Amino acid sequence: MAPTRNTFRVGPTTCSTGTACFTPLGSPEAARCSAADMSRPTSTPLSVTPATLYFPTSSLASTASPLPPHVALSAARVLTGQYNPANGIGLANTSLAFFGDRLYALGESDLPYSLRLTSNGDIETLGRHDFDGKLSMNMTAHPKIDPDTGEAFAFRYGFIRPFLTYFRFDSNGVKQPDVPIFSMVTPTFLHDFAITKKHAIFADIQIGLNLIDMITKRATPFGLDPSKVPRIGVIPLYAKDESEMRWFEVPGFNGVHATNAWDEDDAIVMVAPNVLSAEHVLERVDLVHCLVEKVRIDLKTGIVTRQPISTRNLDFAVINPAYLGRKNKYVYAAEGDPMPKISGVVKLDVSNVEHKECIVASRMFGPGCYGGEPFFVAREPENPEADEDNGFLVSYVHDEKAGESRFLVMDAKSPQLDIVAAVRMPRRVPYGFHGLFVRESDLNNL
Ligand SMILES: [Fe+2]
Repeated sequence: MAPTRNTFRVGPTTCSTGTACFTPLGSPEAARCSAADMSRPTSTPLSVTPATLYFPTSSLASTASPLPPHVALSAARVLTGQYNPANGIGLANTSLAFFGDRLYALGESDLPYSLRLTSNGDIETLGRHDFDGKLSMNMTAHPKIDPDTGEAFAFRYGFIRPFLTYFRFDSNGVKQPDVPIFSMVTPTFLHDFAITKKHAIFADIQIGLNLIDMITKRATPFGLDPSKVPRIGVIPLYAKDESEMRWFEVPGFNGVHATNAWDEDDAIVMVAPNVLSAEHVLERVDLVHCLVEKVRIDLKTGIVTRQPISTRNLDFAVINPAYLGRKNKYVYAAEGDPMPKISGVVKLDVSNVEHKECIVASRMFGPGCYGGEPFFVAREPENPEADEDNGFLVSYVHDEKAGESRFLVMDAKSPQLDIVAAVRMPRRVPYGFHGLFVRESDLNNL
């Protein structure tokens, strides 16, 4: 049984040369990215780090070049004519977003790439999209789309001041003016954020950026500052400047992803995986343990309280998209075994605060089988009375022994996340970061 007749899913967004995966066609970088593809056997040591989001070759072992390997290889490709930076510098391999009647492939080091589906089912890159010249620099791969208004909220981070810039797009996809955040005082790896109906929330974590180290020490630009006290920044959702931004120190909180947030009386509640060992993010992702936490920021007292809601190693967590920015009950997260390999998906009841273990349903994919981020697809998206968990979880799963990939459709309401459809894919689908489910009617209007 298909989730609905009029839907189509694209993704995952990690690509590998020679595979049938989804990849933007206009970017040589995007067309050749392979650093995050863990399922393809290789003689070259590969790992997935924050640099993977920036450089396609960042995970390669050191070379004899005096330059960092990723810089040297990129330079070589420019010199040999394989790669023209004028056509784009990013990978567009991290996520997808649909807003303003356009579909974008996103990587946080570059502009969004606009896409469309051709009549024969191919995915065509329309090009880098600068929103009529209003977006001149890179943008997060995790914009937040308000399900009620269609507005998109986003940001960019970088090496030079302002290290963080917040902005939004109206419901027609028209970009609104930048809000530079100068109170972000150090360049920080800021991969994701959260919004409520009234606020945007940023995590200023211990993983930072250092351009000088990248050039002089042949290192990736990302590094850990263990002396830094992590902070959470809160700014009004429609802020025109940062005058009302507030920062709250949150020792021990290194949230790379944010799952959801909402306003609650005089507080903000955010659900997010906290990376317990942030140093491992840089080189040994397989040692990372992500603890999903419920973080409460009391805007009156300034007190921040945190509560772990599962002991399991969980990340790539999603919700019913209709609940973005408002209080929700269910979170669906991928289980790392170890990260970034995903051995299954669990369902958490985040309202169940009395118990530390909030998992209420789970499905493991089986020995040698690994998947990607799940995505929730509502059974009745137009029905406002439908239960929050009335829908399906979809994900690609690859069987490494059989060499087969399947597209799984799971019943999100069932205690074992029952598989209601499993579609064998004609070719291997590589593991990826994030995916998106787009209705066919929306695709047809691109
Ligand atoms: Fe991400």
